[in-house]
Amino acid sequence: MAKAADYSLGPNTFPRGWFIVAESSDLDSGPLALHFFGQDLALYRGESGKPVLLDAYCKHMGTHLTASDSAVIVKEGNQIEGDSIRCPYHGWRYAPDGTVDDIPYHDGPCPKSASIRSYPVRDVMNCIMAWYDADGGEPEYEPPFIKEWTDSQWVKWKLDVLEIENHPIEMMDNMADLHHLGPAHGAPCEFFETEIHDHIYVQRQGGFLKLFNAMLYTFTCYIGPGILIGKDFYNNMEYYHIIAYTPVDDGVVKIYHGALSKGENKIPDDQDIEMARQIQAGALEALSADFSIWKNKKPALNIITLPNEGPFATGRSWYKQFFEKTEKANEYQQQVNGLHNANNFPTVIDEYMQWEESWLSPLALLKKG
Ligand code: FES
Ligand SMILES: [Fe+2]
Repeated sequence: MAKAADYSLGPNTFPRGWFIVAESSDLDSGPLALHFFGQDLALYRGESGKPVLLDAYCKHMGTHLTASDSAVIVKEGNQIEGDSIRCPYHGWRYAPDGTVDDIPYHDGPCPKSASIRSYPVRDVMNCIMAWYDADGGEPEYEPPFIKEWTDSQWVKWKLDVLEIENHPIEMMDNMADLHHLGPAHGAPCEFFETEIHDHIYVQRQGGFLKLFNAMLYTFTCYIGPGILIGKDFYNNMEYYHIIAYTPVDDGVVKIYHGALSKGENKIPDDQDIEMARQIQAGALEALSADFSIWKNKKPALNIITLPNEGPFATGRSWYKQFFEKTEKANEYQQQVNGLHNANNFPTVIDEYMQWEESWLSPLALLKKG
């Protein structure tokens, strides 16, 4: 398995951006011990409902804050106080910003050296999303939000989760990869283009899908390196999906997937929910056409690029900005911003563009500065 350095991605091993680290409901049963970005992490929900993500180990004597479920304070459910968490070993209390603010047997000020790293977190669309930046920077934009999420008629996803031993750049390459859509997905591409706006990378494509005997149009959009939101249209069907790629270790990725579709009833009944689950399963099946390829392939450190190939190099340059210092990311953006139309296919259906306009414009505006 190849690592970030093998692809010459930049000074950082893990990219900067928003990443899914859990499904919101995972926290209902208490604090979680996680491992992402090559490190152990502690995730819990404070009494206010706010999720908190900290580096896992207490600085006092190295106890994992959320993996030690044998301790009485954990068994009795007394670990969380307000939005803070007590270490299960000696009860030092960590505030959500990662500082120690109370030590049960000590009256003076708590040592600053005991502070651990806290990560910005959002609880959005049933996903706990964390902002990761190896250099410790604050979020540069907000995570995506699909406005239909708040409409009760749309049936909310329950995430699929799996892990693949391959670098997420190989998954990101899909955005430029028009010629895999026939052999891998059974829907040969008839039009295709990509567009980049700073941290946003859009793919629009369409073609005839044998399985449904219909034209399939897909709009797929990375918001940073870790979160992909798509909307697919075929026959009279339309649904959103989320695909998230969160680095576990260098060269290992956890994939989250969900679909959001509209039911028949204002308040979804069992049949609506069943239909939505089937749509999600179908979307996962379509995506999973790539899984065994990703699992078994050699790393594509150099791609032989034919003249009518998709814009792989452009996509990879876009991806590199997230492994660079923030100041340098701008240089990559300048290189790749704009439309990259590999095959000069005609503009897509109006409805589709209108939807994209309404969805993407507010998103792009969220970028700070
Ligand atoms: S190891 Fe955490 S309080 Fe002692
Ligand atoms: Fe694919």
